Amino acid sequence: MRVVVTGGAGFIGSHVAAHLAERGFKVVAVDNLERASAVKRLEEAGVPLVAGDVRSVDLPPADAVVHAAAYISVDESWERPYEYMWNNAAATARVAKQCADRGARLIYISSAAVYGEPQRLPIDEGHPARPLSPYGLSKLAGEQIAQMLAPGATALRLFNVYGPGQTGPYAGVITRFIERAKRGLPPVIYGDGTQTRDFIHVGRRGPLRRGRPRPRRRRRLQRGDRQGRLDKGARGGRDAPGRAGRRAGVRPA
Ligand SMILES: NC(=O)c1ccc[n+]([C@@H]2O[C@H](COP(=O)([O-])OP(=O)(O)OC[C@H]3O[C@@H](n4cnc5c(N)ncnc54)[C@H](O)[C@@H]3O)[C@@H](O)[C@H]2O)c1
Repeated sequence: MRVVVTGGAGFIGSHVAAHLAERGFKVVAVDNLERASAVKRLEEAGVPLVAGDVRSVDLPPADAVVHAAAYISVDESWERPYEYMWNNAAATARVAKQCADRGARLIYISSAAVYGEPQRLPIDEGHPARPLSPYGLSKLAGEQIAQMLAPGATALRLFNVYGPGQTGPYAGVITRFIERAKRGLPPVIYGDGTQTRDFIHVGRRGPLRRGRPRPRRRRRLQRGDRQGRLDKGARGGRDAPGRAGRRAGVRPA
């Protein structure tokens, strides 16, 4: 089975691509390298990389496409809303149309940011989706575009993902905690630390890690009910609230 992973040189895409390649799938990664952090992981896994932008490139032939290419920062999405809609939503129309034309299954990597403020726990698929940022809105639009243009497309609403290789200015809070701890610094936490978030390790077993992708029916990767309090997860004190803390501590990716 041939699988194309868009955003394959990024944090999550590279783990998915490497895992699928290890399981015998014929994987090709597509990435415009604008924010690539994991080309080495692809090389080590023997996954070929096509340097191309999903807004313009024709995807390589595939039986399934895992669409992970996106901009991922809530803060940046407020500064560059047009670019987020273009790259995360409009580009998904292009990916989905190609999937439909070729009969390829589409697995769209969405985000828990589509939910907005939780109204109940656990957060399941039936929970209202009321995004609170241009990023969340762009991911919700991407889901709907994927499901309209590529019937049978599956959207996976990941919560905060962390793990090896997560780097850069848009890294999640766990990675930021670890980076600071390595430097002997306390974690920066905005607020009183009693806010809760869902976290998932990028290597955790989920639908993409059990074997063949099963995109025909929606599967639950996370339930939105196993949350970690930031002050419990980050032992060792906290800094005063501030913008850095707000960025580090409370936003879903
Ligand atoms: N990291 C998280 O905690 C998290 C949580 C929920 C959802 N997600 C979703 O997972 C996906 C991957 O996130 P990530 O953390 O690996 O981000 P990342 O920035 O590490 O990876 C994204 C990759 O996509 C590439 N890319 C961006 N736009 C592109 C385009 N137009 N054409 C080709 N390549 C392009 C970038 O160069 C980068 O390598 C995103 O769709 C994101 O919305 C991430």
